Amino acid sequence: MSDLEVLRLTDEDREGFARVRSMVYRGGQPTDPAENLLPPDGEGFVVRQDGQVAGALTALDMTASKGVEHLRCAGIAAVGVLPERRRGGVGKALMRGTHRLLRDQGFLAASLYAFREPFYRQFGYEVCGRVQRIACPADRLPRFERTLPVRQLRPDEFHLLRPVMELYCVVYAGGNRRNDAQWSRFLGGDRPKTVYAAGDPIEAYCVIDMSGDFWVDLFVREFVYTSRAGYEAILETFRGLAMNKNSITWLEPSDGPFFARHLDHPVRVELNKPIMFRILDVPGALAKLHPGASGEVVLRVVDPDFPENEGPWRVEFEYGHVAVSQTDEEPDFELEIGPFTQAFFGEPSLREMARLGFVAFDHPEKLVAADALLPPTPVVCWDTF
Ligand SMILES: CC(C)(COP(=O)(O)OP(=O)(O)OC[C@H]1O[C@@H](n2cnc3c(N)ncnc32)[C@H](O)[C@@H]1OP(=O)(O)O)[C@@H](O)C(=O)NCCC(=O)NCCS
Repeated sequence: MSDLEVLRLTDEDREGFARVRSMVYRGGQPTDPAENLLPPDGEGFVVRQDGQVAGALTALDMTASKGVEHLRCAGIAAVGVLPERRRGGVGKALMRGTHRLLRDQGFLAASLYAFREPFYRQFGYEVCGRVQRIACPADRLPRFERTLPVRQLRPDEFHLLRPVMELYCVVYAGGNRRNDAQWSRFLGGDRPKTVYAAGDPIEAYCVIDMSGDFWVDLFVREFVYTSRAGYEAILETFRGLAMNKNSITWLEPSDGPFFARHLDHPVRVELNKPIMFRILDVPGALAKLHPGASGEVVLRVVDPDFPENEGPWRVEFEYGHVAVSQTDEEPDFELEIGPFTQAFFGEPSLREMARLGFVAFDHPEKLVAADALLPPTPVVCWDTF
């Protein structure tokens, strides 16, 4: 059995970190020693096998919204193990060891986009949310009477988007409260992206990858709305933008208005590549909830990687307040960490999972209380990493 050790990246392992990046993500092309391989909001982690770096990943400092609160959430990116060291448990050790270090650093959750979901499911991640990808032929966009002014924002006005996103994150769980570096990266930095905003103050905006070419598909990077008027004003803007294009593609959360109100043949609506989350600190996450009702439940979370997450937890709550304490009581229900993470964020919800038999309640009235604590909520994270 080889000796595996997971560490935060220091100068000592920088060369090994660069070698992993080069072999896994750059087709073997060496990295420039002067290049900073970590973004300003990222931290590196390495796994050493018999003293040598065999794998690495980057954890981005992000958040995941839950109602009015945000959980500190590590966005896991660039996971890689040197090809000659794969399929020997190095990747597993890297993931588990990094989780431990992140939890110790105060991260309550982690998120990622998987190359294959089952690989990450074994570490407690689960798919959250059902974001729709809408590909609409230019001549099938619905028509709206425009009740709000729409204008293109100048880069020096991009800060006006932040309060809109902030409001959006209260409604949708899993959203990232971008820091300065993340907003700048997302909006193109020195090569600013095209942004249209509806209303003053802004009620909706879209960020677009513009193309001068005719008869192509236009891709909307982000479409955020906080009102019906805002939504319709931006969709009306899509009609103008798509005038000489084949189609326009954008994303909406599972409760987005397009599918429910404006679907037309042959518009294609598919599920977008989902984000996966993992709660790292169960009592810490539960304490962040702001329920809209009162009640109490006792739950146990099965988490072999973090026995300290298991509880059982007695959760007493009333409008906006939660008290979490460990107890010896018999739990009302039990969940594995993956489904707990889904129920926590809200999509799929605890109610849905109970209906399908993935969560059992001895006393049905406890489902009512648990549902009040963890209500269904659409999950959306617009950041890709
Ligand atoms: C993905 C990667 C990091 C895994 O590292 P690794 O050291 O090979 O992984 P481990 O040996 O610890 O774990 C492999 C085990 O995970 C499990 N596993 C792997 N893929 C799986 C899948 N698709 N479904 C279920 N389990 C899976 C299996 O149990 C496998 O064991 P096996 O070799 O007995 O089949 C590595 O293969 C890699 O660098 N791949 C290329 C880059 C990449 O795709 N990165 C992921 C970006 S999201």
